Amino acid sequence: MSTDVNTSATSAKVAPPPTSTGVNTPASPVSPDAAVETIDVSVVVPTYCEAENLPELIPQVWKSLQEAELEAEIIVVDDNSQDETVAVCDRLAETYPVRLLVRRTERGLSSAVIHGMRHARGRTLVVMDADLSHPPEKVPELVAALHDGVTAGEPCDFVIGSRYVRGGTTDEDWGLFRWVNSKVATLLAWPLTSARDPMAGFFALRSETFRAAERLDPIGYKIGLELMVKSGSRRVGEIPIRFRDRLHGTSKLTLKEQLNYLRHLGRLYKFRLGTLAQLAQFLAVGSTGMIVDLCCYSVFLLLMPLSVARALAIWAAMSWNFAFNRRFTFAESRRDSAGRQYVFFCLACLFGAVVNWAVSVGLTNLVPFFQEWKLLAALLGVIAGTAFNFVLSHRLVFR
Ligand code: GDD
Ligand code: MN
Repeated sequence: MSTDVNTSATSAKVAPPPTSTGVNTPASPVSPDAAVETIDVSVVVPTYCEAENLPELIPQVWKSLQEAELEAEIIVVDDNSQDETVAVCDRLAETYPVRLLVRRTERGLSSAVIHGMRHARGRTLVVMDADLSHPPEKVPELVAALHDGVTAGEPCDFVIGSRYVRGGTTDEDWGLFRWVNSKVATLLAWPLTSARDPMAGFFALRSETFRAAERLDPIGYKIGLELMVKSGSRRVGEIPIRFRDRLHGTSKLTLKEQLNYLRHLGRLYKFRLGTLAQLAQFLAVGSTGMIVDLCCYSVFLLLMPLSVARALAIWAAMSWNFAFNRRFTFAESRRDSAGRQYVFFCLACLFGAVVNWAVSVGLTNLVPFFQEWKLLAALLGVIAGTAFNFVLSHRLVFR
């Protein structure tokens, strides 16, 4: 099943004969860690049931690469589609430098793209959909912008085929829902990147940029965003494209993928902001804890002496904070025993809790005004306790 590349017709440089489209052979002789950069461009095309589109896409991509005199390969990464994909790729590989990588045990757009990139031999990597939503004739422009920048600016680390810059469009019947959806998704990513269309599945980057990306663990569809953030790409260029409706078949973007996107964003924020994101989460949990504290206190006041009620309410809030911080803020450390962590957490909060209790109870007992405004005294206690915790941590723990 090894393939021959048709070199006769044009002067374009062509990649050395690609490996094979065989699905049972190891995916590639180029091991992921030792991918050798021997050609200009690898175009990575993730596919799931795109057999109808590939015979349209591949020739068009190849034509535009040849016209730009780029030495290239096209890597199709298929997740074991039960259609004609294998046969179609075999046939195409007789004429074009196509490599088919079939994954049998994994499924997912993002991981498919990473898989393809790890096997790529190009100095530049381009990713595009198989359904002809992305214009093949724009591929050379994306590649060129990495070196020359957009409209002759400085070189780019990452280039997007963009729907949302001047000159970019999406086809008419895109539907309001999908449009709003896409805009909201883009807005949520705004603190991570200033790109207008960071959701795009059509982009280019240097293979060294790809290799520099740390800890890739995308969930869902937004592999471009993942790569941009994790590789620390600063100069992101956008080339306007017309995003066309898919030629054949249906989209695989489901509601589940939208939810995955939110989880993915959470990870990216954590990656980018590190401890700061945790601190914000910690404070957010703390403010819900304060509500728990005051609610419990109001109820306990009806049942028991004030000083006991205050202590119990503080303890309830502390436990609440613990549960939520363990679940969300410090989710990575959940493997440790919960009981042990709980004891340490309470100890760490103890000083603040004592200050909280003393201020609340002291004010209420000593200042007549607070006899009427017990919850206000409790609130001041919470604030004093929090401030104390902060100063203590600041001076002693995180010097
Ligand atoms: N290998 C593999 N595995 N490929 C997949 C999978 C998968 O699980 N799911 C989808 N693909 C392939 C499709 O075959 C297609 O070539 C490409 O990924 C995009 O999938 P579509 O189903 O056509 O996605 P879309 O049109 O809804 O979304 C496109 O536009 C979005 C922006 O609106 C994609 O480009 C998204 O990445 C992009 O965010
Ligand atoms: Mn599509």
